[in-house]
Amino acid sequence: MERSEQARAPWWQQSVTYQVYIRSFADGNGDGTGDLAGLRSRLGYLRDLGVDAIWINPWYRSPLHDGGYDVADYRDIDERYGTLDEAQLLIDDAHAIGLKVLADLVPNHTSSAHAWFREALSADPGDVARGRYLFRPGRGDGSEPPNNWQSVFGGPAWTRGDDGDWYLHLFDVTQPDLDWSKREIRDEFLDIFRFWYDRGVDGFRVDVAHSLAKDPELPDVDPDAQAITSGNDGSHPFWDRDEVHDIISEWRHLADDDDGDKVLVAEAWVAPDRLPNYLAPDQYHQSFNFDFLKASWEATARRTVIDRSIDLMRELGSVPTWVLSNHDVIRQATRFALPGADDPMTFIEAGIPVDVDLELGLRRARAGALLMLSLPGSVYLYQGEELGLPEVTDLPGEVLDDPIWVRSGKTIKGRDGCRVPIPWERTGPSFGFGDASPWLPQPASFGERSVEAQTGVDGSTLELYRSALAIRRQHLADPLDFEWLASDDDVLAFRRGRLTSVTNLGGGAADLPPGEVVLSTTPLVDGRLPGDTAAWLIER
Ligand code: GLC
Repeated sequence: MERSEQARAPWWQQSVTYQVYIRSFADGNGDGTGDLAGLRSRLGYLRDLGVDAIWINPWYRSPLHDGGYDVADYRDIDERYGTLDEAQLLIDDAHAIGLKVLADLVPNHTSSAHAWFREALSADPGDVARGRYLFRPGRGDGSEPPNNWQSVFGGPAWTRGDDGDWYLHLFDVTQPDLDWSKREIRDEFLDIFRFWYDRGVDGFRVDVAHSLAKDPELPDVDPDAQAITSGNDGSHPFWDRDEVHDIISEWRHLADDDDGDKVLVAEAWVAPDRLPNYLAPDQYHQSFNFDFLKASWEATARRTVIDRSIDLMRELGSVPTWVLSNHDVIRQATRFALPGADDPMTFIEAGIPVDVDLELGLRRARAGALLMLSLPGSVYLYQGEELGLPEVTDLPGEVLDDPIWVRSGKTIKGRDGCRVPIPWERTGPSFGFGDASPWLPQPASFGERSVEAQTGVDGSTLELYRSALAIRRQHLADPLDFEWLASDDDVLAFRRGRLTSVTNLGGGAADLPPGEVVLSTTPLVDGRLPGDTAAWLIER
């Protein structure tokens, strides 16, 4: 993008998008589950926070076996969240206060409660209804799965139906994979996109955007290359296959045809050198920068990711995205205190140690936020990070809802610890989340971390985010403006126009470049920047 084109840059190139995990954001009807009424009542909070857009996790009709990533009807809202009319009101209300709305599309699989899958179960092999999914006879006498593919959530990726055939599910047994080689599937999803564009949705976050295409031979996979991140050259039998790009290009044309202002954001866990394939001009507009999310709390690693991200996006004529958390990973206020946490999933699998230094984690999370919010490009925030919420690590087994818990034979707790409902007030049975007990219990410490407890409190994490977003809006509009400054090895310092961002990821104090400090995540000591602290300075 040339500098002269910047005035015309699309809104999503420098936006801050706030991820609403709807089930846990705000409960308007008092049933313990977040909903559209709750979200509508809190839109003012999001406007005042200073974000530009919201991305709402799946809100469709669903048995909620995987938090709504098991969709039973893509054209309706789950009754626990509200109605289609309320979704329309939400979109309209958000637009009226200048917020864009992104929905979440789940194309790799439906729910087993989807009408198509129910039809498929009773259809004969060879029937069109059956062919929408991947049913196959088993190996040997039919009692062995058709191949060795494993589910992301643990156990085989195949389940045997009553008539003896097996069906593929890369995720939970209630999430059968669609057969995307069929034209009918493509047409159906184009129609679903249109359905929501007609209602004013401004774009989509696309779930497991690097799946969809499967090797038609369904061969065994290298047992060590099953993980969601294992595709690396287009030949993996189910991750990141080259055929996926033809499907995406149809979605992109539709988005461009609509009003040219839509955005498609990929959740694609692919190798850095494969990412350009997803961001070509006829593919996704953006992709989550999981390398930034996964990088450990260490300056060299982060600098490398930042440089690579900026260089790549310049080559592609776009701008990078930045993200530190979402509903699938350990919250950064806990993660940044874990040793060598360069893959948040590792800790989900291994269990989080009980003696995490949460003070250190929060200190780093606050510094990480200033670092992220000063980088060029767009940012994705996950609800609750602006409150500095930690991961809830002591949820008892009986409340756990993540399918990972059951599929791992109750050995891996899964992702519920980052999905605990938001505390809005200092006191009360659900800290203002709603009138009933929330679907996951909140720890007592949530009261002091609530929106009420932090609002107007100098130095609180909430006020830090509010100030940072306001300063960002005023000073960091030009996504091309970025220049590293010389600094100690532990420090990341760069200039964006008149604003200088300095993050000290080491333990000792660091010198600050010239300028007036307008924000710092912990107080300066003798004019120097303490360890695990970030500051923004403005040249007057
Ligand atoms: C994505 C979602 C995750 C879900 C999975 C299956 O990774 O973010 O929450 O479990 O896809 O749909």
